[in-house]
Amino acid sequence: VQVKQGYSDPFSIVSSEMSTLAKNIATIIGSGHPTLNRVAAYYFEAEGKNVRPLIVLLLSKALSEIPAEQRQRIPVDSQDVNEQPEYPGESRRFSFAGKSPLESISPLRILHGINPNIILNPLSRPLGLLPELDNANGVLPKQRRLAEIVEMIHTASLLHDDVIDFSDSRRGRDSGNVAFTNKMAVLAGDFLLARASVALSRLRNTEVVELISTAIANLVEGEFMQLKNTVLQPNLNLIDDENRLMPVPTGKVPVEVHEYSVQPPATTPTHEQNVDAAFDYYLHKTYLKTASLISKSSRSAAVLSGADDTVIDQCYEFGRNLGICFQLVDDMLDYTTTAEQLGKPAGADLELGLATAPILFAWKTRPELGPLISRKFSQPGDVQIAKAAVEACDGVAQTRALASKYRDEALRNLRMLPESDARSALEFLTNSMLTRRK
Ligand code: FPP
Ligand code: MG
Ligand code: MG
Repeated sequence: VQVKQGYSDPFSIVSSEMSTLAKNIATIIGSGHPTLNRVAAYYFEAEGKNVRPLIVLLLSKALSEIPAEQRQRIPVDSQDVNEQPEYPGESRRFSFAGKSPLESISPLRILHGINPNIILNPLSRPLGLLPELDNANGVLPKQRRLAEIVEMIHTASLLHDDVIDFSDSRRGRDSGNVAFTNKMAVLAGDFLLARASVALSRLRNTEVVELISTAIANLVEGEFMQLKNTVLQPNLNLIDDENRLMPVPTGKVPVEVHEYSVQPPATTPTHEQNVDAAFDYYLHKTYLKTASLISKSSRSAAVLSGADDTVIDQCYEFGRNLGICFQLVDDMLDYTTTAEQLGKPAGADLELGLATAPILFAWKTRPELGPLISRKFSQPGDVQIAKAAVEACDGVAQTRALASKYRDEALRNLRMLPESDARSALEFLTNSMLTRRK
């Protein structure tokens, strides 16, 4: 990220929190099974953008600048992230090699990976104490844990997404489904989600638990809205459970009917109404699949800070606008960038039958694209026609313009926070959405 004059570098302000993020996640996802460990840790090994935790941490820091008398509630107790219930019969969580437990250093330090003598007992409930966090730098321990939880949920959804999208690469290397098979990728995603849920419950804040659980449900709902628009095409290859490429059997592939609303309209809608409905559908799907996790984690960071309701709402709106902007740019990059640059497949959306903003804008001026969108670009030549139409109708530029409206709204939301380095860092991050290349 290039830092412009007058802006704070988003990474340096919360660099200590960001640098322990991966280590803490590694501890939270450690399981009793070595292969599960490998698959669950796989996407964390390659450098990701870490946008979601960065937003949570910067927002938390910016929220800490609000004077105490302007807070509605008391910030959550910073010390009880490890308060945990005792389950009868499960108190022995670890077996010790060499030293006896009494001779060893505290279990907390052992879990930090300091003591090499520890081995996890696969037969016991493996998640003991979570890594300890401090609240230096204005960011509360629970907000730091929230940042870790959000990245774990996001990574879980990517493992599943790459199975759904038949992707073969992510973060510049083989995707999880290709490296380990579909079955293992799905299970590892489930496992990450489960461990994120344990850590979430340890925040001991039911409002935040509800927010983040709803965001998980929204991810699935968004993906389902998109699935409704997807059809398996005869030219697509499926990857089977042993990672063999299987051609989709022609004639046996169910073709779904394109639906925007459950209720059939009373009169035949005009082209303009159809386009509006398609944009509504697309933007709602985008909110659910991408913006919801960002907005609900931003809201959660504000709830944990003890901010008043107006600030909480603005943080939520900020996450929503930034999240939609982020996905619009993602959908744009699918048209403009190479797989090499992205580290994941490019030009994949049309191939998957997905009508995102660039082609919807083209459809607005070219009604004849309607049938291609309806049949999910499944006929030979459809994808090429669609690409040419996007080019001719400036679909990419119009998508960028729409994304910039959401960016501007997000910047407006940020102005509710007191001026600080963390706030300018968030402004910088928001501005850089439009210029990102991957
Ligand atoms: C990436 O989109 C995918 C998502 C933002 C969400 C995927 C959600 C699921 C698969 C539902 C299951 C969720 C959980 C929590 C396990 P994309 O395919 O447009 O982006 P890409 O180009 O990065 O693949
Ligand atoms: Mg995908
Ligand atoms: Mg997808």
